[in-house]
Amino acid sequence: MKGVLIFGGSGTRLKPLTEIKNKSLLPVYDKPLILYPLQVLLDAGIKEIVIISGSEHVDQMAGFLGSGGHFGCEFSYRVQDKAGGIAQALGLAESFVDGDDVCAILGDNVYFDDLSTHIRNFTEGAHLFLKEVADPERFGVAEMDGEKVVSVEEKPKHPKTNMAVTGCYVYDKHCFDIIRNLKPSARGEYEITDVSGWYVQRGLAKATKLEREWVDAGTFDSLFRAADIVRKHRIEGIVKNVTEKTTQTDTKNVEKVSV
Ligand code: G1P
Repeated sequence: MKGVLIFGGSGTRLKPLTEIKNKSLLPVYDKPLILYPLQVLLDAGIKEIVIISGSEHVDQMAGFLGSGGHFGCEFSYRVQDKAGGIAQALGLAESFVDGDDVCAILGDNVYFDDLSTHIRNFTEGAHLFLKEVADPERFGVAEMDGEKVVSVEEKPKHPKTNMAVTGCYVYDKHCFDIIRNLKPSARGEYEITDVSGWYVQRGLAKATKLEREWVDAGTFDSLFRAADIVRKHRIEGIVKNVTEKTTQTDTKNVEKVSV
């Protein structure tokens, strides 16, 4: 399985911070945001990861992440020239993924559950991760029957459930054919929810409900909330591995540091 780390949009809701620093490098307590979704991919044993971002950000990100040697993985970079949606960003990873399964994760999503078993056990179709939220109309919203997803809608005015589709998507190789045939939504974007919807309509999408906190850290309040949760976990001694950049380039000797 290949990993795709997506930084879509230009961080408008986090201006002026994002005028001086790329969103991915903003702090979540004591680590840059990007390390949290990256850790999800690394925990799942994914070693080949492509980073997708706007051209204005790629240099800062590549400057920090480098080749991946520091993290025990290998990074490639692709530029999304114009923000055209998450599905369009994922489409840019097609040649990199090269017929493999893919785990795509949004660069501003911070997870406190361990997703690794579900990602490792993936065999076909789609696997999504859902979280009960108070404001489902702000997210993709899913409805389940057992472990199957039976409907999925992007930011519905009248959500059928309060289960938000979080920003980690495991798909088989068909996702790229689906993306090629997508039409832009009313907001002019290629929606990741339409990719998941293709699998849902065919009974091929499963999902896991998250039990711990999950934060989409795209606003000041949510970024603050993510930092606050991380800080509490540190104080309470709840161990979460967040990848520490080492000074070594030899991947054999890379350590993960429990913080
Ligand atoms: C995107 C997706 C949405 C998903 C959310 C998770 O929304 O379109 O389905 O629930 O990420 O973070 P956006 O952050 O682009 O508004």
